[in-house]
Amino acid sequence: MPKIAVIGAGNVGASAALYLAEAELGDITLVDIVEGVAKGKALDLLEAGPVRGYDTMIEGTGDLRAIAGSDLVLVTAGLPRKPGMSRLDLLKANADIIRGVAQAIREHASKAFVIMITNPLDVMTYLTYRVTGFPRERVVGMAGVLDSTRFRSFLAAEIGVSIEDIQAMVLGGHGDTMVPLVRYSTVGGIPIEKFIVKERLEQIVQRTRDGGAEIVKLLQTGSAFYAPAASAVQMAESILKDKKRLLPVAAHLNGEYGFRDLFLGVPAILGSRGLEKIVELELTSEESAALKKSADEVRKGIADLELEPATR
Ligand code: NAI
Ligand code: 2OP
Repeated sequence: MPKIAVIGAGNVGASAALYLAEAELGDITLVDIVEGVAKGKALDLLEAGPVRGYDTMIEGTGDLRAIAGSDLVLVTAGLPRKPGMSRLDLLKANADIIRGVAQAIREHASKAFVIMITNPLDVMTYLTYRVTGFPRERVVGMAGVLDSTRFRSFLAAEIGVSIEDIQAMVLGGHGDTMVPLVRYSTVGGIPIEKFIVKERLEQIVQRTRDGGAEIVKLLQTGSAFYAPAASAVQMAESILKDKKRLLPVAAHLNGEYGFRDLFLGVPAILGSRGLEKIVELELTSEESAALKKSADEVRKGIADLELEPATR
């Protein structure tokens, strides 16, 4: 069985552990700075196994050294944004956490694939790439699968078809500037523009961009976790089972789409070698401009990290 570490046993981490266990993708180590939370949730998940029928070892710990030998690490450790906290405050607070986590991954799980989930997503994925020194094939971020699954569910409800027949692709950074690609979204292979008028489609695109905020507004005390966890586990499955799914992935760009040395959501193939291929689509000038705007946002966040210049 592969060994999977989930760092951060909060809402996303615990939900991801449940989905990983249900899919029997590996033995799971749940780590949290609050040890009792990691241990308690791991035990609770283990005890659900006989009823749910999964045969997976799940342990909880407060000690990051327990990730030793992991094949895959999912990182969900971090703070949610609190009232009065600016985007920059959140970035700095989570960067402090992610620096420590990434150092532990470098030290104890030097062969692992890393899927970053903590926000601000593209910036935290970049930080992990820099601190671990891992090749770009082994550090990816989850956001596009979530943004796309939100877009897909809104489209299915609007058109009145099964979600199974909707394919959608959302590019860019995980934030207000994300780029839902209407032209590449289909129902059973038929462009969605055949089913929904332009004005309504624009509203659905906007709802997708605001998808995270819509849930925060409803929950009041936190952000979404079921769909985020499910999305990260889909990426994990593609890597661990070498499924070679083509998914939107926050990947390190090195010239692709005209960008260098930043992480941005792009279509990519995930398999046993991790990020196996970035797929470059032809974009219209409008789509390119939207992607550039999104990349500029990510660059600003990376600049706020105040890292030494990259040497690779
Ligand atoms: P949460 O607050 O429920 O859980 C975070 C957990 O991290 C807490 O249990 C906390 O004790 C733990 N933690 C903090 N510092 C730690 C450290 N140094 N080592 C180990 N554990 C530590 O938050 P939730 O809802 O699980 O979200 C986690 C992160 O994921 C947030 O940054 C959130 O914004 C982000 N997120 C990203 C999404 C995406 O699409 N990329 C979607 C949903 C959430
Ligand atoms: C979301 O999109 C908070 O990034 C998180 O739900």
